[in-house]
Amino acid sequence: MNNGYIIRGGKTLSGKIKVESAKNAVLPIMCACLLTEEQCVIESCPKITDVLNMVKILNKLGCKTKFEGENLIIDSSLAKNVALDNSLTKELRSSVFILGSMVSRFKKASVSYPGGCDIGLRPIDLHINAFRELGVIVSEDGGEINCVANKIVGNEIYLDFPSVGATENIMLLTAVSDGTTVIYNPAKEPEIKDLMNFLNKMGAKIVGAGRDKIVIEGVKKLHGISYKAIGDRIEAGTFLIGTAITGGEIEISGIKAENLAPLLNKLVNNTCNIRVKDDIIYLKSGLNRKGFFIDTRPHPGFPTDLQPQMLALACVSTGVSVIRENIFETRFKHVGELVKLGAEVTVKDRVAIVTGVERLKGGEVYAHDLRGGAALVLAGLNAYGKTMIHDVKHIERGYYAFEQKIKRLGGDIERF
Ligand code: UD1
Repeated sequence: MNNGYIIRGGKTLSGKIKVESAKNAVLPIMCACLLTEEQCVIESCPKITDVLNMVKILNKLGCKTKFEGENLIIDSSLAKNVALDNSLTKELRSSVFILGSMVSRFKKASVSYPGGCDIGLRPIDLHINAFRELGVIVSEDGGEINCVANKIVGNEIYLDFPSVGATENIMLLTAVSDGTTVIYNPAKEPEIKDLMNFLNKMGAKIVGAGRDKIVIEGVKKLHGISYKAIGDRIEAGTFLIGTAITGGEIEISGIKAENLAPLLNKLVNNTCNIRVKDDIIYLKSGLNRKGFFIDTRPHPGFPTDLQPQMLALACVSTGVSVIRENIFETRFKHVGELVKLGAEVTVKDRVAIVTGVERLKGGEVYAHDLRGGAALVLAGLNAYGKTMIHDVKHIERGYYAFEQKIKRLGGDIERF
């Protein structure tokens, strides 16, 4: 079946790796390719399942897509408006980002409610409210979102919460528009800035990504470009935590340390030794891992996408760790699985209290979502004995060649 990993824990992760382009940068950039009739090239695009699903969505819309080596080529010259049904959108939360691009390009769109990781309610009210304020008529009908617009007219949008997806969707919707759009309280994640850079290279006029407001001066037309997205901070973070949890030493390249500052700070306190040079982070695991406190927040706060992996580290760090998840309601599904591996964790509402044990022990567990699944892999690498992880398809949504990279770093991992 090849749907699981068998890990024999106890080997350290040590060596060098280079991170892939960031999943969360590449996905909205793929949607942006729909905004021009000219060909775009996404350089070094990871062939993760989320990307392959987005390729299917673009193909369904009549785009021509192909991988040439590592580069993904997208030609949207013949794209046409097609309703995207549940069979395509259920696998991928980011299918909602295509809505902004579709409305911009076709002036109408019909998309089934998006899927993705089951980690909370994940409503899209902020996207829909913003679309309405920008001149789009939106109706919802039995799990379908239907949009129609004569033209997109700039406006001032205040986001109640700095939603990553809503910020990106507004940028995609208004890059080509009449007038100026201002997004107050936008998300500040590095991937937002990367989308701005991509759109600006295409000819858009956007300033302010990463700051308190983003200003989008609508242009008439965008053109095709070739672009390499930023490195994946979550992949880098996962391998850094994997090194800490196994007692190894790693050199990770292709990543800006400033994009991982909240994690590096926690790992130093956990007694890791960290050095940074240009786009390289070196980490040597400390001898006495210490418990810590984490409070997930929008960027530049601690990223929710690294919470599960840090929770795995907390399981084998001395003393009590407290982990509060503020972004997603039900992002603790990995806890029940970690407990099967000998972890001592209790969860109350959005807070997990972890009492460190010396080492986890092997067992049979299930990945329920992408980052929670990665946390189980890290836990298995620490545990003594054999750990079987089922449903790793969730992990492969966002990590390219995960087990090969772990193997190269010395981990004992096989597929079954
Ligand atoms: C993106 C990332 C995901 C990351 C998350 C938070 C991509 C492809 N995915 O997801 O990996 O975990 O940011 O950093 O980039 N919300 C609403 N209404 C909305 C939109 C969001 O209530 O209209 C809520 C969500 O339910 C959630 C929170 O806001 O609780 C964060 O969501 P958001 O920032 O939009 O995350 P995503 O774009 O889904």
